[in-house]
This record gives sequence, structure tokens and C-alpha cells, in this order.
Amino acid sequence: MNVKKFFAAATAATLALTLAACGGEGAGDPDPTTAGPVDAVDARIGVAMPTQTSERWIADGAAVEAGLEALGYTVDLQFAGDDIPVQAQQIDQMITNGADLLIIAAIDGTALAGQLQTAADAGIPVIAYDRLIRDSANVDFYVTFDNYQVGVQQATSLLVGLGILNADGSAGDATGPFNVELFAGSLDDNNAFFFFEGAEDTLAPYVADGTLVIKSGQTTIDQVATLRWQQETAQRRMEDLLTSTYSDGSKVDGVLSPYDGLSRGIITALQNAGYGDNMPVVTGQDAEIASVKLIADGVQFASIFKDTRKLADQAVIAAQDFLAGKTPEANDTSTYDNGVKVVPSYLLESDIVYADNIQSLLVDSGYWTADEVASGIAE
Ligand code: GAL
Repeated sequence: MNVKKFFAAATAATLALTLAACGGEGAGDPDPTTAGPVDAVDARIGVAMPTQTSERWIADGAAVEAGLEALGYTVDLQFAGDDIPVQAQQIDQMITNGADLLIIAAIDGTALAGQLQTAADAGIPVIAYDRLIRDSANVDFYVTFDNYQVGVQQATSLLVGLGILNADGSAGDATGPFNVELFAGSLDDNNAFFFFEGAEDTLAPYVADGTLVIKSGQTTIDQVATLRWQQETAQRRMEDLLTSTYSDGSKVDGVLSPYDGLSRGIITALQNAGYGDNMPVVTGQDAEIASVKLIADGVQFASIFKDTRKLADQAVIAAQDFLAGKTPEANDTSTYDNGVKVVPSYLLESDIVYADNIQSLLVDSGYWTADEVASGIAE
């Protein structure tokens, strides 16, 4: 995916115009929300991303960087290799290097309180990116998707794949019972709880009436979580489930997976166990290119498309507002309580990706090219 594709030209132009109207001093104001404007040419923005092992974060980092640079800001973009102390050090370094604002996608949403206190003391606004930073008063804004709704969509795609629902939401013909297994994300990522809750609430009536059977009995988020969203960990758990629960000749019909990386690990475990021609319905998230190809090929059933270009745009708009001494516009001021305060948020919408809407959702919008979908490799 070409970086330049990420930052919608129209938005960049609008932002540049708005920015041109700003100027002045004030980065030293200890209250970031009332800080005066910072001159674009002088402004330095630290962007802390969790890892480069997932292509989505590479894309997010590149998109945020491109958007900020288009406005004339200096960007310090760092990836932390999913290592919590490394991310803390990177943020310390950004502050030492004179950051005027921080945009942070945390690895562990509870581990950055010290860094954020230092930032607050220096009057540096902090924007939480995609993942909420918890247990700190010093988070000024949050840009993300409607994460509960993502979970609803993941569960909905599972029900559609099983034929219990039709894609338009009406009741399908299938009645089950179907054997399903649940996976969740990393417990140190606040999003994992929202995804799981949205999915749980959606699946609950079908579990209650016996249409869905969670045969392993592993139903709580603690039992089904995947530390650091690791593909290998999900693969191992799926292998263990197949051995412990399905060696009696019974079959898995569906797997709720909250992220494409996990889905690919789950699919590998299923393929190794002989499910190749009769793959269960496996869900996902992020529309990663390798998974989009698997969906096109009928191997993975669905994913959730969260347009990272739009998320990056929102982060850039919020950054620009803070640096101009303004409060960014929130569209949600009730959902994201981080344990200390409700963080004003801007939520974006997501879409379910099925084989038959890859073209309209992902190719027509320029997110992936037809060649990338065909090869499963980002260019
Ligand atoms: C979550 C994010 C998901 C997925 C996951 C694993 O925080 O919201 O979209 O990327 O991390 O990286």
C-alpha cells in the first residue's frame, strides 16, 4: 500500500489552509487543552506505534507521518516492537527531544502513566490513537473506531457465515447446532474488551437457545485472550482446542477471531488438522492484505475494514487543533472512561468485508489494488 494513498489529498488541502491561518507561541502552557498556538514550522510531533509485525500499524504510522508532514510539522515516528519498556523509553525520548504533541498507540494501555505525567508537566497534549491509554488523567483526546460495534460486526459475520443470519441482517435458514470457539485480543489492550463484549452480546441469544455450542466451555475473555495479539499464540491455542475438544470426531463450525493475524494462525492450525476442504467460518479484523486474499479465495470468511487513512486524518486534525490552541471536536464524550476520566473521543465507523464486497469496499476506495488482492502482498 502506497503511503501517499493514505492521506486524502482533499483533507490535506483543507488542513493546510486552516493551518496557514494559525501562528504564535504557547507550547509551554501547562494545560494542553488551553495551550496557545504553536507555529507549524517549529512544531515537533512524536508518534509512538506499537509494532511493525502487523502491517496495519506500519500503514497507520506512515499515514499519520505523511499527514503531519504535509502540514509542515516535524515528525518523530517510532515503533516499539511490542515491547512495553521500549515504548516507554521512546516516549521519554520524544519528550526530551522537544515534542510539542504526542500521538500514541499504546502496547499496554496501563503502562504509560509516568510518561504522560511528564508530558502534562511540560504542557504537551496527548492523543491516544486507536487504543485508549488507561489510568491517567493526562490523555487529552482519543481517535478510534466504534470498538463495541466492531465486535458486533465480527459476531454478525460469524452468524452470516454459518447461515444463521443473512448479510442483510434477516434470519437465515440454518438452525445448527454449530460448534464454535471464541478468541479475544490482548488483555492489556482496552479494545480487546470492547470487541469481545460486542461479540458476546450479539452471540448470547444463539448460545442461550442452543444454536451455537462453545464446545470447549472456554467462554470468558480471560480464557480466550491472546497476549500481544500474537498469531503463533492463537495457532497454538487452536491446536490445543482441536486436541482437547475435537478429537472425538466432532467438527469446529466457526471461530470468532478478533484480528486477521490471529485468524491466519487459527486457519493454519485448522489446515494442519485436515480442515482444508471444509474450513470453518473464521472471522477477523483489519482487512490485512494476506487475509483479504484468503477471503477472496474462500478460506477466511470475513474481516472488518477500519479505514486507517480516516483514522490518521482524524489524528492529524486533532493534533492541528491542539497546536492551534483549540479543543478538537469529539463525537463521543461518554464511552471511553479510562479509569480516571472519560476521554473525549472521535469514533469512526467500520464495515464487514466479505468476498463479494472486496471490490467495492477495498479496491474501489483505493485501499488495496486488485493486484495486491490477487497476490496477497502489499506493494
Ligand atoms: C487493536 C486494534 C485492532 C488490531 C489489534 C491488533 O488494538 O484496534 O485493529 O490491529 O489491535 O493489532
